[in-house]
Amino acid sequence: MFSTAFKLCRKSNNQTVGLIRRYSSLSNVSIFNNENAERGDYLKNVVEQDFTLIENFITEKEEDDLMKEIEKAFRRTRYQYDHWDGAIHGFRETEKSNWNTENMKIFENIKNIAFDMDNDIIPTTHVLDLAEDGLIKPHVDSIKFCGNKIAGLNLLSDAIMRYGIEKEPESYIDVYLPRFSLYIMRDALRFDFTHEVLANKDSYFQGKHIQKNRRVSILHRNEPS
Ligand code: OGA
Ligand code: MN
Repeated sequence: MFSTAFKLCRKSNNQTVGLIRRYSSLSNVSIFNNENAERGDYLKNVVEQDFTLIENFITEKEEDDLMKEIEKAFRRTRYQYDHWDGAIHGFRETEKSNWNTENMKIFENIKNIAFDMDNDIIPTTHVLDLAEDGLIKPHVDSIKFCGNKIAGLNLLSDAIMRYGIEKEPESYIDVYLPRFSLYIMRDALRFDFTHEVLANKDSYFQGKHIQKNRRVSILHRNEPS
């Protein structure tokens, strides 16, 4: 039906380009380091260097236009609850390359902002639809099939993304990803940390429950170098 590049990957508004670093705000980030200050500094550095969040990257109208095309693409596709590699539960996904002109404009902005005008962006868009009871378990996208940058547009719901270090469960970074936002993860955060999207029952940020409804993400990645 569609190629499995992104499955393999998983296994193992209009801001201008020059402004990108200014959006690396830490207010949506919580760092857990079990009171190990050195570890805390390391996590803080990584998130400052390698993570960008742009809130309200799209409007509700733009989300609606994207969702119209996405719903068409998912017609007759059911949510899966037993993915072969076990990384995701309660989801459906597709790779899509044909979008209408308005939606393509949004993706052009993402490419300019997230990929510094690099020309090695994987041309198809990966759309992941997580059901309300779905979750993404900790994983690292394959280094064989995807490069150093991943950009995700958050539709329909807020969610908590957790970045963790294998074999060091006491050190992790939680990021509150609001609906309509774009996040970018790069380099060490993308290679040395697992990422996951918490189930609704575990979806807390600084003690407050963040309701995760059905959530659709649109992911852009670059080719491995
Ligand atoms: C993935 C993934 C993140 C997201 O599909 O590999 O990590 O924001 N998705 O949906
Ligand atoms: Mn991933």
